[in-house]
Amino acid sequence: MARPQSRYVCQSCGDAFLRWEGQCRSCSAWNSLVETLVQERPVSARAARRPGVTPATPQALRAVAQEELPRLPVGIGELDRVLGGGLVPGSLILVGGEPGIGKSTLLLQAAAGVAARVAGQGGHVLYATGEESAAQVHLRAARLGLLDGPAAYAVQVLAESEVSRIAEIARASRPDLLVVDSIQTATVDELDGPAGSVGQVRESALRLMELAKGDGIAVVLVGHVTKDGSLAGPKTLEHLVDAVLNLEGERYGALRILRATKNRFGSTEEVGVLEMREHGLAEVEDPARAFLVEHAGPAAGSVVAPTLEGSRPLLVEVQALVSPATYGTPLRRTTGVDAARLTLLVAVLGRRAGVGLSAHDVYVNVAGGLSVDEPALDLPIALALASSLRDRAIAPGTVAIGEVGLLGELRTVAGRERRLREAARLGFSRAIVPAGAGGPGSDGVGDGGARASRTEARPPDGLEVVEVRTLRDAVEAALGRGQPVETTGSRHP
Ligand code: TYD
Ligand code: MG
Repeated sequence: MARPQSRYVCQSCGDAFLRWEGQCRSCSAWNSLVETLVQERPVSARAARRPGVTPATPQALRAVAQEELPRLPVGIGELDRVLGGGLVPGSLILVGGEPGIGKSTLLLQAAAGVAARVAGQGGHVLYATGEESAAQVHLRAARLGLLDGPAAYAVQVLAESEVSRIAEIARASRPDLLVVDSIQTATVDELDGPAGSVGQVRESALRLMELAKGDGIAVVLVGHVTKDGSLAGPKTLEHLVDAVLNLEGERYGALRILRATKNRFGSTEEVGVLEMREHGLAEVEDPARAFLVEHAGPAAGSVVAPTLEGSRPLLVEVQALVSPATYGTPLRRTTGVDAARLTLLVAVLGRRAGVGLSAHDVYVNVAGGLSVDEPALDLPIALALASSLRDRAIAPGTVAIGEVGLLGELRTVAGRERRLREAARLGFSRAIVPAGAGGPGSDGVGDGGARASRTEARPPDGLEVVEVRTLRDAVEAALGRGQPVETTGSRHP
């Protein structure tokens, strides 16, 4: 074996250097290099260790056999949905989220779900925990009510964070699923750096990948996400794994969104909606309306938008607050929406719609801790700003959706029909939408726009569809020119 060498590994990008320098030459981060002892393994040795690897031969595209991916459903509908139908044996999955958001809870429930499925055939799940003691995992299992089910025997808890020992046990016992909670506590004995450092995280993940691919075991890694939203540790981890799932939400709220940002075995479009309850994460009865907030009366600055996450419509509430700027450059603050998009909308509102905000501080968020990045949210954001500036509420039962162009023109959105149907189903009575080329019935998803059907031109029952061409018209349709709307009655139907 080669003798260990000292390297300086950048904690922000993962690049390694022979000498210490104040600034990383790759990513320009300051003071990010940490000395790490590296036991270099020759590349050939690493390849040779992988069992069952035969040199590839080229074959005609047509002749390539289509592989049916075997799937192991975890039994939590929303998680299976995001995974694309269940875990693929031999895949490596990273589940990220802020501390306390519910990653360990989700994975213990998933472990129990898989255990229930495989226990009959003598299978089991290995849950390696470096974050908590086995006793703490037991406590959580009790809270989740898992101690009476098949999970009580078929989930094996291993309080260990050294990856070689975890891999050794997994190779010997061959679980159907291995959970490693978390990759930031995982270490490799040969490396010198502290747990959580880039060197340790990357090498641990590499070895767990070898285990997953080599032995056909599904491996799920838990990863902490830092405040700025990136997975702590190297970015390289995201390239390494087959799927990256993120658990998001407001820590003190109950709702959680599960989103795939990468998935080699499924779509990254689908989201799962879960709720943290007294006894674990549970599915939500009607996800489409889960993020709507009840108000006592109409509120200025609030607009409901029918968004589309993959194939799932979710109605969300955009809230804006506009107040005269007191000092220096006016503030533009966002939660859950793109800040650059807000700046642009403020400019377009001022120049094209007569809604001047250049001397105002502006705050925009999406209620419920959701983040939405589709351009269709432009119009709801703009209307919420106008509504707050004029201190005039939009009529109850109204939704709005649409993309705003630089000239103040509105563009229609994909999946319009589906969004409007969902709004109508939830009792909304009026929709402000761009007058689309596809006509009122167009459903852009999946038919490329060109074939945008005119067959379904009738709006859903009970929904008045107000088509507008410009942002100015939209503001007028939403807020009128006259008196503020009366402020009694419920905001949402
Ligand atoms: P946890 O899964 O430990 O979060 P993470 O692993 O992402 O750090 O979740 C911790 C929070 O979830 C904690 O604040 C308590 C809460 N919780 C519930 O509300 N209900 C439950 O059934 C469980 C197990 C936890
Ligand atoms: Mg945890």
